[in-house]
Amino acid sequence: MPKNPKKSSKTSHSGGIDRIIIFDTTLRDGEQSPGATMNLEEKLLVADVLDQMGVDVIEAGFAMASDGDFEAVKAIAKRTKSAVICSLARCKKDDIERAGNAVKPAKRGRIHTFMSTSDIHLKHQFRMSREAVLGVIKDAVTYATKFTDDIEWSAMDATRSDLDYLCQAVETAIKAGATTVNLPDTVGYATPDDIKRMFTYVKNNVPNIDKAILSFHGQNDLGLATANSLAAVTAGARQIECTINGIGERAGNTALEEVVMALKTRADYFNVHNPVKTELIMRASKLVQNITGFAIQPNKAIVGANAFAHESGIHQDGMLKDASTYEIMTPESVGLHRSSLVMGKHSGRHAFKQKLKELGFNIGDNAFEDAFNRFKALADKKKKVYDDDIIALVDDQMIKGDESVKLVSLSVACGSKGKAKAELTLSVDGKKLSAKTEGDGPVDASFKAIRAIAPHKARLKLYQVHAVTGGIDAQADVTVRLETEEEVVINGNASDTDTMVASTLAYIAALNKLKSYETKVKPERATLKSEVKVAKKRK
Ligand code: KIV
Repeated sequence: MPKNPKKSSKTSHSGGIDRIIIFDTTLRDGEQSPGATMNLEEKLLVADVLDQMGVDVIEAGFAMASDGDFEAVKAIAKRTKSAVICSLARCKKDDIERAGNAVKPAKRGRIHTFMSTSDIHLKHQFRMSREAVLGVIKDAVTYATKFTDDIEWSAMDATRSDLDYLCQAVETAIKAGATTVNLPDTVGYATPDDIKRMFTYVKNNVPNIDKAILSFHGQNDLGLATANSLAAVTAGARQIECTINGIGERAGNTALEEVVMALKTRADYFNVHNPVKTELIMRASKLVQNITGFAIQPNKAIVGANAFAHESGIHQDGMLKDASTYEIMTPESVGLHRSSLVMGKHSGRHAFKQKLKELGFNIGDNAFEDAFNRFKALADKKKKVYDDDIIALVDDQMIKGDESVKLVSLSVACGSKGKAKAELTLSVDGKKLSAKTEGDGPVDASFKAIRAIAPHKARLKLYQVHAVTGGIDAQADVTVRLETEEEVVINGNASDTDTMVASTLAYIAALNKLKSYETKVKPERATLKSEVKVAKKRK
């Protein structure tokens, strides 16, 4: 990864430097969205797609936040082929050490440490003087250099900081060894003009600024994150931090797909390039939707269901004559294949393999066989199998993980006359167990049957259904979100042409994850906690 992006002789709004580093934080800031929690296997799936897409930096987590985060960063660091793997760390020795250890197995590891610079944060949150904070920054960045030479320092709440003090803090961080300096709009408050002013000021007033890459991280509280990121690029930022589908704290972050496609589509204006293989954007977007259950609105830029749909007669007329009349980018460029063949029960292995490739899947032989069998079963129920059906089918299979609970059979009776009734048989650790239940509607009856067979304390937090495609034979895509007593959130996702079967399978998917959380993750946490307690007592 270039530490000093090369200069181009071309004039542009970006000052003639033509490489933008794409820093993806779906697995750190994105995962901080309430309900978006991912387990280790899911994080690995997302990291693999991000690496395949060619993003420069994957912020894989906040290693100090939990043992699960530490293990996830480490596992991603071990297997990622190209991207730099980064962990977040507060300006504290313990945090930095843990981040350093987590990214150690990576081919290239980065520590991203941060400290607030705004008076609002210093006074009300940290109760520290500006002078003392400069000392904290110096010590933290210097300590981080013991673990890697790739260090990012972020000035939290930069956009509400006094500019002269911000410059002092940036200079301190660079002097101590920061190679990337990030100026985040932590509270999503700034406008594009503010961003330009801040970057221009910092560039003009920090004497050692040429020794670091400038970065921007935008929150979307006012819906300005993408506009602000692009303004940062025009003012000299050479790294943009973003997430798939814009997920993140509160209103989310800059959406990777938006900033990447804006830079590509308006290359005439920005005159910069970025490394992302944009044809994998849809793949990444769907995967993140399926894992988190965070469906995006149909009119969402780039990845929404209607982003490339033309409804009005005048537009359709123009499109039929020449797509450039109303289309500023092609659907194919983001991984949507409008002209590709619809699959059906006569489609063979070869066509299916080709289709998976076109959709950006890269799966092994066993997974392929399984996917092909499931595709055939779906094609028997549904005349036309669309791309979205196949994406839902393969994602379900990849996300599923351990399956100690399996659906054997379900029958449901419901309607306007009295209570709904469910008869359910599950296989639990190889044993068949059945229940008959009644409920307020078929979903309630079926979920009660699941709870009767496999009792658990986790509460149902979300039940969500979407049609994968149009048409009466569309598959239902269901998300079930459970929350444990310790407030750990677990999502289950499944799709089927029968909404009740999809609902039951989604609950079972969540239940299987809950079981592996209770048998693997929770005891590890308890052991670690008691070891820490013993160690503290000994000290
Ligand atoms: O929003 C923010 O300021 C952050 C930093 C840690 C980059 O997430």
